[in-house]
Amino acid sequence: MSQPNTPLLFLLFISPFLLLFHTSFSQQNDTVSCPLDFEVLRRLTQGLSPSGDQCQFILQGLRLVQSDYLKRTNSFLPRVDSAESCWQAYQTLYNQLVPSFDIRKNCGFQTDWIAKGCNNITSRVEYESNNSAETLAAVTTACNQSLLNSSPCATCTTSLSSLQPSDSINATVGNVSDCTAYRSIYAAAFANSFGPDDKGNAECLFSLNFTPVKSSSNKGKKAVIVVIVVLGFLVLLLCGSGFWLIRRNKLKNKIRQREITRRWSDLNMNVSNLALESINSSTTLIRFTFDDIKEATKNFSRLNIIGRGGYGNVYKGVLPDGSEVALKRFKNCSAAGDASFAHEVEVIASVRHVNLVALRGYCTATTNFEGHQRIIVCDLVKNGSLHDHLFGSLGTKLSWPVRQKIALGTARGLAYLHHGAQPSIIHRDIKGSNILLDEDFEPKVADFGLAKFAPEGVTHVSTRVAGTMGYVAPEYALYGQLTERSDVYSFGVVLLELLSGKKALIVKNDEQHTLVADWAWGLVRSGRALEVIEEGIPELGSLEVVEKYVLLAVLCSHPQLYARPTMDQVVKILDMGLAIPTIPERPIPLTAGIDDIEKSVSSNWGSGRVSSYSRLQTLKVVTEQSS
Ligand SMILES: *[C@@H]1O[C@H](CO)[C@@H](O)[C@H](O)[C@H]1NC(C)=O
Ligand SMILES: *[C@@H]1O[C@H](CO)[C@@H](O)[C@H](O)[C@H]1NC(C)=O
Ligand SMILES: *[C@@H]1O[C@H](CO)[C@@H](O)[C@H](O)[C@H]1NC(C)=O
Ligand SMILES: *[C@@H]1O[C@H](CO)[C@@H](O)[C@H](O)[C@H]1NC(C)=O
Ligand SMILES: *[C@@H]1O[C@H](CO)[C@@H](O)[C@H](O)[C@H]1NC(C)=O
Repeated sequence: MSQPNTPLLFLLFISPFLLLFHTSFSQQNDTVSCPLDFEVLRRLTQGLSPSGDQCQFILQGLRLVQSDYLKRTNSFLPRVDSAESCWQAYQTLYNQLVPSFDIRKNCGFQTDWIAKGCNNITSRVEYESNNSAETLAAVTTACNQSLLNSSPCATCTTSLSSLQPSDSINATVGNVSDCTAYRSIYAAAFANSFGPDDKGNAECLFSLNFTPVKSSSNKGKKAVIVVIVVLGFLVLLLCGSGFWLIRRNKLKNKIRQREITRRWSDLNMNVSNLALESINSSTTLIRFTFDDIKEATKNFSRLNIIGRGGYGNVYKGVLPDGSEVALKRFKNCSAAGDASFAHEVEVIASVRHVNLVALRGYCTATTNFEGHQRIIVCDLVKNGSLHDHLFGSLGTKLSWPVRQKIALGTARGLAYLHHGAQPSIIHRDIKGSNILLDEDFEPKVADFGLAKFAPEGVTHVSTRVAGTMGYVAPEYALYGQLTERSDVYSFGVVLLELLSGKKALIVKNDEQHTLVADWAWGLVRSGRALEVIEEGIPELGSLEVVEKYVLLAVLCSHPQLYARPTMDQVVKILDMGLAIPTIPERPIPLTAGIDDIEKSVSSNWGSGRVSSYSRLQTLKVVTEQSS
């Protein structure tokens, strides 16, 4: 009887030790030591304190440490079983900078996020296989230099935007290092030989600022002058070469035109017989004759003019069936591009959406007295444009619900152009006067896809920049880089106009101009987002929602294109309350101080970039002479 008791007693006696032993052992077992080296961040932050939003700093600091890890091991992410010890290591480091701040608790990071990333990509090889060798080489060319100054930084970050995968919001994957972050993590590890712990990389690629921001009113003024002069110069250049080309074309065309005119008027006789016949049954696009058009507009009566634009006049007209339409008559056309014009018009006509102005038909003709004609016929939207309502004489202030309706409708229309239409269409010239309102204030975006039909001569120049001052995205203005995200920028500017009642280019007096995007960013940055809102808007909604609109507008008008959301995401944010991603700091390529530009033009540039920056240099001389 006593025999079996002995082992039992023994067991009872040692069990507390076993338990202790077991817990300490298993803790070691499920927490593998962290492979990330937070020393990198410690070295950078020595003797300095982080400035700006703490959680943002923590997030970006972590990305920098991940970049160092990538460089050493070719792997983006630590294993998930080391996640806990990595957070603990980071916590220890961070508490040396800011005592008693629980980073996971206060910033809402989940433990496993540190081990998850963009579309589950873990290795360098995997990431590079998403990109062509050319793209990777271009990134290295742009980024393998000191990124301490704004201009090299802008060159580098602009090149990063071509890296894939591009999605910036993917909530299903741990968002500590989403696809946008991967670009910087990759570039700091492999494209820039200084490495992730270089101060230039930390500031440029990870937006880590350690020193308090200097008050820079003087610098700001200079910067604004640079912006204005750059845009002014571009416009001058555009106009100058436009005039020259038009004059040259006119001379050439006059001779050709005489021959062609006779042949075309014969042809038109035949076309007349086909009047009002649908050329494409699926889109019911109508090809009008010139006589139809003349009749509809009372022979282009001055009284029927409802708009004047760079492309030509817009007339109000009435079709034989009694429906009212808007007719846009392009200036200075030649018959040469008619085939592609007809094709483009068909593409545009096939795009139908409640927030897009519908195209009814078009007309091309050569007349004896008025030269070659191109006219498009659209539905008439009767309640004026957003620009008229915000800045024109159209009276009362729009209420908040109406402004929300306009913002959401415009976003939907543009999202359809970018993501719904086949092929997708980039608008290029989004501005208040291109957003028309119907009787119920439902917005309808006009003029999409029409930049291609600018008068001949001007097109050659304006392939570089077709757009309107104050609304054009910086990368498009500087590099001629045109993507859907240039439209997102212009949308952001329009949204800011809608919220603030201020114009895209705020004119203080003859010499001082500010971009509304810069002004709003300044307020948001100093925590005063609600001051962006125009005073006295009727029926203003909850301030939380109002602030969300401001943040979204600032994010959309971010100077770095990869920071901007897509129009699809904008719709989701406005419509379904999707959270707004954090707004990255701005390296601000356009408003770079003159000193930065001076330094950067003397360093080496890839041949493609010389032109825009030498232009800036020329401008610098101009500003110096004038001041
Ligand atoms: C440690 O982990 C391994 C595998 O993850 C497991 O097989 C082993 O039983 C664990 N040891 C202890 C003491 O928990
Ligand atoms: C990423 O990994 C998780 C878990 O391993 C899996 O459920 C998910 O489908 C993966 N996603 C992709 C895009 O591969
Ligand atoms: C990560 O995504 C969640 C939603 O899935 C969001 O609440 C959180 O703010 C995001 N965190 C960061 C750091 O972006
Ligand atoms: C987001 O992640 C999921 C899996 O986690 C993936 O299936 C999806 O394609 C991703 N979205 C984009 C736009 O990359
Ligand atoms: C970057 O430039 C340095 C010399 O300035 C060179 O040694 C290095 O190989 C380059 N790095 C890459 C990735 O091309």
